Amino acid sequence: MAANNEFARSILDGLKRTPKYTEPRWLYDAVGAKLFEAICELDTYYVTRVEMSILNAHAADIADALGEGVSIVEPGSGAALKVRPILDALGPRAKAYVPIDIAAGQLAATAAELGKRYPHLTVSPVATNFFAPFTMPPVDNGVVFFPGSTIGNMPRESGVEFLNRMLDRSGATRLLIGFDLVKDKAVLELAYDDPAGVTRAFKMNVLHRINRELGADIDLRTFEFESLYNETSQAIEMYLTSKIGQSVHIAGETIAFAANERISTEDSRKYTLESFSDFAAACGLKPVQSWLDDDQYFALMLLSR
Ligand code: AVI
Repeated sequence: MAANNEFARSILDGLKRTPKYTEPRWLYDAVGAKLFEAICELDTYYVTRVEMSILNAHAADIADALGEGVSIVEPGSGAALKVRPILDALGPRAKAYVPIDIAAGQLAATAAELGKRYPHLTVSPVATNFFAPFTMPPVDNGVVFFPGSTIGNMPRESGVEFLNRMLDRSGATRLLIGFDLVKDKAVLELAYDDPAGVTRAFKMNVLHRINRELGADIDLRTFEFESLYNETSQAIEMYLTSKIGQSVHIAGETIAFAANERISTEDSRKYTLESFSDFAAACGLKPVQSWLDDDQYFALMLLSR
């Protein structure tokens, strides 16, 4: 119930503002998480595939850069698939792994599996929503691992605050982070508006969720999904747009839409090595080394405080 109240508050607050928005975190209920997994399998969504290829191709080099006796802290670890090439390459040089995830069941299963696979590794899972206040034991020689380019979905200020918080809480002094690079507009727009309509379904699901969980009466046929690359801000912007002027009812409140009024559901920022280094400087972090794929679509960067 408490979670639902938070959902209701956040949705109503966002939809009463001009311009209207919904926080990206509400995209990931059970249905949304499955749809996001399906996006990651699409040919047009290069992000997951390319990041994994960089991890596989450069694991030995990344491990050498991380060095001896390293502890890896991973917020939003999921099935911990991306850390595996690094753990394999580090071998006994990896001392501890701290996966942090809200899905307690999956977290425990992943921790048990990794404990068996890497007997030298101390695996200390932390089951929490990493956006909420939480404590964790500080680690020695820690590096925060944040792959997936999720940093690009956070407004700049929130991203700085988030990374500082993760580093402070864990006592880690280094960050290994994945981010998506500025590239051809057509490639970006296809990745975020796929012909199969999976991204559209992923976004529409937030309206379904509002109807389901908040007893709302939104007619989904009156909304359309829009995705465009803003070359000035170097971000994909994703919207749900009301095709008509209308009022909808959500949790007992009335929300009015003008015709063609947009709800911003998510931005996905793209960077150059320079623009990411500028952002990192605001977190007090200096680049140490970067790894890119041959097409220069995506980057993994190691930074130090
Ligand atoms: C989770 N995040 C990194 C995705 C991205 O690429 O910005 C979210 C996403 N939204 C639509 N497609 C993918």
